Amino acid sequence: MLIFATNNQNKVNEMNSILNGLIEVKSLKEAGIEIEIPEPHNTLEENAREKSATIFNITNKNCFSEDTGLEIDALNGEPGVKSARYAEDESAYKNNIEKVLNKMDGFQNRSAQFKTIISLILEEKEYQFEGICKGQITASEIGTNGFGYDAIFIPEGSDKTFAEMSLDEKNKFSHRKKAVTQLITFLMNI
Ligand code: IMP
Repeated sequence: MLIFATNNQNKVNEMNSILNGLIEVKSLKEAGIEIEIPEPHNTLEENAREKSATIFNITNKNCFSEDTGLEIDALNGEPGVKSARYAEDESAYKNNIEKVLNKMDGFQNRSAQFKTIISLILEEKEYQFEGICKGQITASEIGTNGFGYDAIFIPEGSDKTFAEMSLDEKNKFSHRKKAVTQLITFLMNI
C-alpha cells in the first residue's frame, strides 16, 4: 500500500483511474492525515520531494507525491511551479485561467506543456519520475470536465481540450499518466 500525499481529490480520481487497482493507493484523507503540505520551492522536483518527505516523516510509511505545472513557452515557462497560485495565493482555478488568457491575448505562439514530477519514497529512499504532455493553449475556455487549466489546453494529437474529454481519454495523452506509468514500471521491477 502506498500513501498518495495529496489533498487534491481531482488528482486522486485521476490516479485511481490510471492505476485501476494495480497498486493500492490511499489518499491523505483515507489515511486519516490532515495536513496542508507546503510547496515552498522554485522547482517541481523540490516541491514533490518536500511533499513526500513531509508525509514519510509523519507516517514512516512508503508514499509518493506529485507536483505538476503548466509551462507556457510565450510566458517563459510560467505559470510553471506557480500553477496552483498564479493569480494570487491559493487562487481559484478560474482566476488562474483568466490570468493566463489575459497575458496571452493576441499571442501567436501558444505552445505549452504540462509537466508532472512524481516523488516516491520507498524504504527511506527517494525516486523521481517525470511525465510531459505537449500541446496548445486555446483562446478561451472550452469544456467543463477536469480541473485546473484543463479547459484551455489541447494536447498534441487531439483537437479537444482536456476539459472536453472523459478521464479515460485524458489518460491517453496526459503528463500524469506518463509519470505514473514510469512509477508502475519501476515498482513492478523491484
Ligand atoms: P500542484 O501540483 O498541486 O501544485 O498543482 C498545480 C496546479 O496545476 C493545480 O492547482 C492545477 O491548477 C494545475 N494542474 C495540475 N494538474 C493539472 C491537470 O492535469 N490539468 C489541468 N491543470 C492541472
